Amino acid sequence: MLHLKSTTGSSPRKSAAPRRPSLVRARVRRLHAYVPGEQPKIKGLIKLNTNENPYPPSPKVLAAVRAAVDGRLRLYPDPSAQALREKLARLHGCRPENLMVGNGSDEVLALAVRAFSEPQAGTEKGSRKVAKATVQYFTPSYSLYPVLADIHGAAKNAVPLPANFSLPDVAALRRGRRWNFNAALTLVTTPNAPVGRGYTTRELEKLCRAQRGVVILDEAYVDFADENAMSLALKFPHVLVARTFSKAYSLCFQRIGYCVGHPDLIAALDKIRDSYNVNGLGQVAAEATLSDLGFYRANFQAIRRTRSELSQALTQLGFRVLPSQTNFILTQPPQFPAQDWLQKLRDRKILVRWFRAPAVKDYLRITIGTPAEAMALVRAARQILKETPAARRQHSPRR
Ligand SMILES: Cc1ncc(COP(=O)(O)O)c(C=O)c1O
Repeated sequence: MLHLKSTTGSSPRKSAAPRRPSLVRARVRRLHAYVPGEQPKIKGLIKLNTNENPYPPSPKVLAAVRAAVDGRLRLYPDPSAQALREKLARLHGCRPENLMVGNGSDEVLALAVRAFSEPQAGTEKGSRKVAKATVQYFTPSYSLYPVLADIHGAAKNAVPLPANFSLPDVAALRRGRRWNFNAALTLVTTPNAPVGRGYTTRELEKLCRAQRGVVILDEAYVDFADENAMSLALKFPHVLVARTFSKAYSLCFQRIGYCVGHPDLIAALDKIRDSYNVNGLGQVAAEATLSDLGFYRANFQAIRRTRSELSQALTQLGFRVLPSQTNFILTQPPQFPAQDWLQKLRDRKILVRWFRAPAVKDYLRITIGTPAEAMALVRAARQILKETPAARRQHSPRR
C-alpha cells in the first residue's frame, strides 16, 4: 500500500482542497436559529414542554378532515382561505379584508417583520432611519422575535420587563430611555410567554396609542386569559392582533394562524405571502373548529381548572408559581437549579421546558396537561424532593 505523506505534516486531502468562499450569506451563517421544543417519540412520555393542548380536536373537526382526504388532494387549496376568513370575520365582528391567514401565527409574525421593518443594510444613520429598521419587543417574551429580526436584518430593540414581568407604563418606558416609540414594529406577547402573565386591554391600549409604528399584539394564548385586546386591532390603524389555532384549538399539526387589523396592513402582508401558504386540510380543520366552539370552551375551562390545581399543589411543595393566564405556568422550583429539575423530571419520563436566558433560567415552564398528567408531575416532584439528602437540602439556598 502506498502511504502518502504531505511535506507540511497535514493530511494530503486537507492540503489539496482549495478554500472556497462560503455559498451561504454571512447573515445566515451568523444566525442563531430558533430552537423549538423537543418532540421526542418516547413511549409513556408525559409531554409538557411545548404548550400543546392535552385534549384532541373535536370529533366534528376530525370527521371534517377525514372527509376531505380524497381525490381533492391533487388540487391547490383556496389561495386566500376565503371561507375561513369569512367565518373568522363573523366571529370577530369585522370584514374578511381585516384578516390574513398564515401557516401558523409564526408565518404571520415573519411576514410582519418583512412587511413593516427595513433591513438595516444601506440604512443611513439618523434616528428616523434607524427607527424604520427597528423591531422591538420586551424580554422575556416569545424567543422567535429576535430570530425573525436577524433573518431580515432589522435592528433589534429588546427591552427588559421589570422583575415581576409586569407591562411598564408609557411614563416608565419614557423614563427608561430604552424603549423606541418610533420603532417600525413592536411585538407584544399578551398574555406573555414564557411568563404566563396577562396584560389588561387598558394598559395595552395606552402603549398602542404611544407607538408610531406597527404594533402586533401576539395573543397566541389569549383563550386561556381573562380578557383579550381584539378591539384594539379594529380601533387603531397601526395595531394587529395575531392569533393561532395551535394552542386553544388543538391544531398545532395543521399550522393555522391569522391576524386581524386595518385592511392596509393586511393587504401588505397578503402581498408578500406565498400564494398557497395555508394548506387545504388546515383550512378544512379550522373552519370545522369555528363551527364547534362550544366544545373548545369546555376545554379552556378544564385547562384553567387544572392550572389552578397544579399551581396550588406545586406551591405546597415549595415551588414559587407565577400567576398564569395561559395554558402553562412558569415556576421557580425549590432545592435544585431549574436545569437539574429538568433532567430529574426527564428521568421520570416527564418533559418540561427550561430556557437558558438569564431572566428565566431559574424557572421551569410547564404546560398544563390533563388532570392525570398534572398529578403525575406533582407525584414526581414530591418523590424528587423526598430523595434529596436532608443535609443537602439544608445547605442549598433558595434562589
Ligand atoms: C407567543 C407565541 N406566539 C406565536 C406562536 C406560534 O404559534 P403557531 O405558529 O403554532 O401558530 C407561539 C408558539 O409557541 C407562541 O408561543
